[in-house]
Amino acid sequence: MKIFLDTADYKKIAELSSTGLIDGVTINPSLLKIEQEPPIKIVREILKVLPDAEINLQVTEQDPKKVYEQAKHIANLADNMIVKIPCDKMYLPIIARLIQEDIPVNATLVFTLNQALELAKLGVNYISVFVGRLYDNNVDGLSVAESIQNMLDTYDFDSELLVASVRNAEHVEGSILFGADAITLPVEVFNALSESPLTRAGLERFKQDWEGGPHAQLLE
Ligand code: G3P
Repeated sequence: MKIFLDTADYKKIAELSSTGLIDGVTINPSLLKIEQEPPIKIVREILKVLPDAEINLQVTEQDPKKVYEQAKHIANLADNMIVKIPCDKMYLPIIARLIQEDIPVNATLVFTLNQALELAKLGVNYISVFVGRLYDNNVDGLSVAESIQNMLDTYDFDSELLVASVRNAEHVEGSILFGADAITLPVEVFNALSESPLTRAGLERFKQDWEGGPHAQLLE
């Protein structure tokens, strides 16, 4: 299962890249709005720390012709750039054209199995299903994501499922359980993955036992 960071905070990305767990990054206009620096600087900084990871950057243009041009521009920034394009009907011909031109596409804002089928048939690299926003709308987001994963596996499509709009550790565990191809995590959810109160308590107990024990050194 690939793990991406869902943030445009390049300092955090640099810090967390040392975990060895980060396969990529996903960036959208809302995440860029939080940062105070020019988007191109942010992308270049991320490319410096993750030169081989998959950097998914979303288009900001609305008009299909401009979306196409911006997508080409994004793809030309580096070999590991993936262009995020909303899966709205008006962009499907653009997505089809980009795929024909070998430009990697992450189709975002996916909420239904039928949308995912269309995108898989076009051959997009990633289908980003927004589980948190489905739950916001009283739909079982993980079930939708699981259905999409099953569809991709059943028909042997090349596209991969990317679980997005992840809000908590339960969304991550649910995604692991049905075998999601990839997931993108906000920094706070990523940081919580390795947390367990039992690990902390166990560490404290080992420390006390060692310090209260008869040995001064471990290997001498
Ligand atoms: O990956 C998509 C994500 O950034 C949207 O998350 O929490 O705004 O639904 P959220």
